[in-house]
Amino acid sequence: MNPIGEEKYFKIKKEIGKYESESRLAHTCSVFEECKRLADMYGLDENDRDKLCTAALLHDITKDISGAKQIELCKKYGLRSPENAKEPMPTIHQDTGAYFAREIFGEEIVDDVVFGAMSAHTTGKEDMSNIDKLLFVADYIEPTRKYNSCIAMREYLYKECGKINKNDKAALYRLLNKAVIDIIGYTVTFLTEKRRNIDCRMILAWNSLL
Ligand SMILES: [Fe+2]
Ligand SMILES: [Fe+2]
Repeated sequence: MNPIGEEKYFKIKKEIGKYESESRLAHTCSVFEECKRLADMYGLDENDRDKLCTAALLHDITKDISGAKQIELCKKYGLRSPENAKEPMPTIHQDTGAYFAREIFGEEIVDDVVFGAMSAHTTGKEDMSNIDKLLFVADYIEPTRKYNSCIAMREYLYKECGKINKNDKAALYRLLNKAVIDIIGYTVTFLTEKRRNIDCRMILAWNSLL
């Protein structure tokens, strides 16, 4: 498969429909649209825009796969097995998804930029690229998310962005960093309140962004 732009996106959407539930696909398409808006807002060039949009379409490709199958995928791709093998952390789908997507679509479509953004979309990671951050934020603020913190972050980001001169990239990316930090803060607070595991990559992302 070597189409570009909308033709490529159409083919990917058709393929991911085999793996994602209807509601998941609605979320995926919403992240894709959010990434297009963010790409406009951040003035991404054609290449970066394409990487971001491709990663958006593929990011949750294994999210609907069961825990047992996730463990199988971990073994297949040589990923570190989750400590509690019966119940892998939900974040594992970002890792299995990147490998699975690369297996299906190949390295031309799932290149290192797309792979990297997919494999950090839930937790973030140390030293995230701008594409990693944009997908991370888009996944959190896309408009089908109904949590108050998601809605508030979406409103905040667009409001603050509206105040910045579009040529002031430094200010735009400072705002993006703040959004990632705040989203990690919300998520860690939620996880601690629920007494759930925290993927250590989220802490590494937090430390590297402060
Ligand atoms: Fe996800
Ligand atoms: Fe997602």
